[in-house]
Amino acid sequence: MKIAVLVSGNGSNLQALIDAEKKGNLAGGKIAVVISDNPDAFAVTRARKIGIETIVLKKQDFKSREDFDTELIRKLRDRKIELVVLAGFMRILTDAFIEEYKNRILNIHPALLPSFKGAHGIKDAFKSGTKVTGVTVHFVEKEVDSGPIILQSSVCIREEDTEADLEEKIHKEEHKLYPEAVRLFVEGKLKIEGRKVKIM
Ligand code: GAR
Repeated sequence: MKIAVLVSGNGSNLQALIDAEKKGNLAGGKIAVVISDNPDAFAVTRARKIGIETIVLKKQDFKSREDFDTELIRKLRDRKIELVVLAGFMRILTDAFIEEYKNRILNIHPALLPSFKGAHGIKDAFKSGTKVTGVTVHFVEKEVDSGPIILQSSVCIREEDTEADLEEKIHKEEHKLYPEAVRLFVEGKLKIEGRKVKIM
């Protein structure tokens, strides 16, 4: 199954997926292209280093979000992409894009949804005083950070933890959870029933 990974930043989750594919842990999943909206994303360097095709789409080259996503769809269609994996892609997708890849877009969020939605899931959880947070992998729907949840994993916040400690723990958990969720999708083991995802 051909996978596109969409990124904007460091790409540590992309790296976890690349490593999982290399070890044969994505079932038949193959990362065919990495697309970034940020030319300086380290994720792009990671992909290039191992010879994965990379595409950079700069938002200033498009008149609107719709135009950006139309081009994105064209690139994905050309490559016959079957699964879109958002890995730190910090851009809200248009309804048209989500419709085009309905139930075939995954996202990872650094908190236990529906808590701490948005762009600062780790910081917001840390500041809130909660003692438990975590990681969520979910299907993407039109409303941000709200699609059916595939996998979650909890992370404890200890009194002595700094925000940087928490970030490290979250990333470690993400790097286990995302490849697992992608593998389940590729194997056809995820069945969406309303708000729930059954793992077959
Ligand atoms: C990850 O922690 C991911 O959960 C988060 O961005 C980070 C990307 O790190 N995504 C969101 O906050 C989406 N709302 P990475 O570039 O090292 O994979």
